[in-house]
Amino acid sequence: MAPMVRISDVCSRLTAMQLGCKMTWTEVLVDRAVLKATECSLIDGPGPRRLEYRIPDAKPLLVLSDTADPVILQLASSDPKQAVAAALYLVDEVSGVDINMGCKQHFTASGGMGVDLIKDKKAREQGTALALVRALRTALPDQCPVSAKLRLLPVEPASLSEDTHAGKKPQVKDVDIQATAKFCCDLLSAGCSFLSMHCRLTSETRSEPVRMESFPLVLEAMRALGGDDSRVVYNGGLLTSGDIARVRGVVSSPLMLARGAQLNLGLFASPERLSLREREDTVRRLVLNGVLYGTALHIIRRLICSMLPGRRGKRAVSGCREIPELLRLLNLPDTPEVFAKWQHHLDVGATVDAILSEVVIRDGEEHVLSMPGPGTDRESKRDREPSVGPAIPSSEAKRRAQDSA
Ligand SMILES: Cc1cc2nc3c(=O)[nH]c(=O)nc-3n(C[C@H](O)[C@H](O)[C@H](O)COP(=O)(O)O)c2cc1C
Repeated sequence: MAPMVRISDVCSRLTAMQLGCKMTWTEVLVDRAVLKATECSLIDGPGPRRLEYRIPDAKPLLVLSDTADPVILQLASSDPKQAVAAALYLVDEVSGVDINMGCKQHFTASGGMGVDLIKDKKAREQGTALALVRALRTALPDQCPVSAKLRLLPVEPASLSEDTHAGKKPQVKDVDIQATAKFCCDLLSAGCSFLSMHCRLTSETRSEPVRMESFPLVLEAMRALGGDDSRVVYNGGLLTSGDIARVRGVVSSPLMLARGAQLNLGLFASPERLSLREREDTVRRLVLNGVLYGTALHIIRRLICSMLPGRRGKRAVSGCREIPELLRLLNLPDTPEVFAKWQHHLDVGATVDAILSEVVIRDGEEHVLSMPGPGTDRESKRDREPSVGPAIPSSEAKRRAQDSA
C-alpha cells in the first residue's frame, strides 16, 4: 500500500496487511517534523502495544504497531544531515526508509523536497537526491533498506532553460525513457535497495492519464544500462482488479496501490470483484482495527467514507458521533469480549476472518452500508469519487464503472 497523507494510518495499514498486502508505507513525513516529535509513548493497552510519536501539544504524528506493522518510513527532505537524523530516530521501529521524490504538494516541494529533487536536469545535477540516498545508506544499519519513490522524467526541450528564464511555462510532454532509466540506475548504485515508480511525469497531476506503457520501456532501458530492473515497483492508476489485471499483462514487477486501496482495501484480498458482504466486512475489519489501536473517530469515519461509493452509507457514517454508534451501524456488537477476541486473533497472528464471521450480526442481506454501483442511487459524480484526495480522472472512473459492471 502506497504512502498516502491522511490515509496511511496504522489501522488502514494493518487492515491492508491482514488482507494480503505485503508492505505498507507511512504517509510522507517532513524530516523536521520527525525531529520535533520528541514525545514517544509506548501505549500498552487498552488494545495492542503501540508507539505514538507526537510533537508536544499536537496530535500524534505517527502511530506504529509494536507487533504487526512492517512499514516503511517515508521522509521528505532536502538536507542529508537532517534526513539521517530523522531516520536514525525511527530506524529501530520501521522496516525501511524511503525518500519522497515525487510529491508536488506545497509543503514538500516548497523546501526543495519531493519532486523538486528530480523535476528537471538542473535539479538532478545539483545532486541532492543522490546525496540523500548515499547519506542514509551510510548511516543506517545494513538490514534497513533505503528506497526512493519517484516519477517518470520528462523530455526537456533544448529551449527549456530559455523558456524558464523568460518566465514561460516549458512545454514538456513526453517521457525521457533513457534519462529515467539512467537516473533509476544511479539511485540503485547510490544505495537504494529498490525504487517505486509513479508512472506520471514530474509535471503531471493525478488527474492526467497514467503512463503505464512507459514502465516496461524504462525497465528495458535499465537492463541495457546493466541495472537491476527487478528492483522497481510499479505505481499508478491501479484502481480496480481490472486495472491490476491489465498491468499484470505487461509487467511482473511488484505493484503499489494508492487510490485503489483508499477506495477498497479488499483489493489486497482478491483479484476478483468482491461481493457486497466482503466489502462490508473489509469496512468492519478497518473499524475493529481502528478501535483497537485507538484511532480517532474522525479518522476512522474519513477512511470508511473513502470506501463507500454510496451517498446513503457516507451520510450514515458521517452522522455517527460516538464509536458505539458506528459499531451498531456496522452490525458489530460493542462489547469488551469482542475486542478481547479480536486482539487475541491479532496477537496469535491467526486469520481474522473467523472472528469476523463470529461477531457480525447478520440479519439479512440489506445493510445500511449497502453500496449501490456507480450510476445508481442517483449518486452525483462526486459521490463516486474518494471523499479525501484527488478526483479520479474521467477515463479511469469510466473504466472503474465498467469493471464494476
Ligand atoms: C490521498 C493521497 C495521499 C498521498 N500521499 C502521498 C504521500 O504521502 N507520499 C507519496 O509519495 N505519495 C503520496 N500520494 C501519491 C500516491 O502514493 C501515488 O503515487 C499516486 O496516487 C498514484 O497512484 P494511484 O494512481 O494508485 O493513486 C498520495 C496519493 C493520495 C491519493
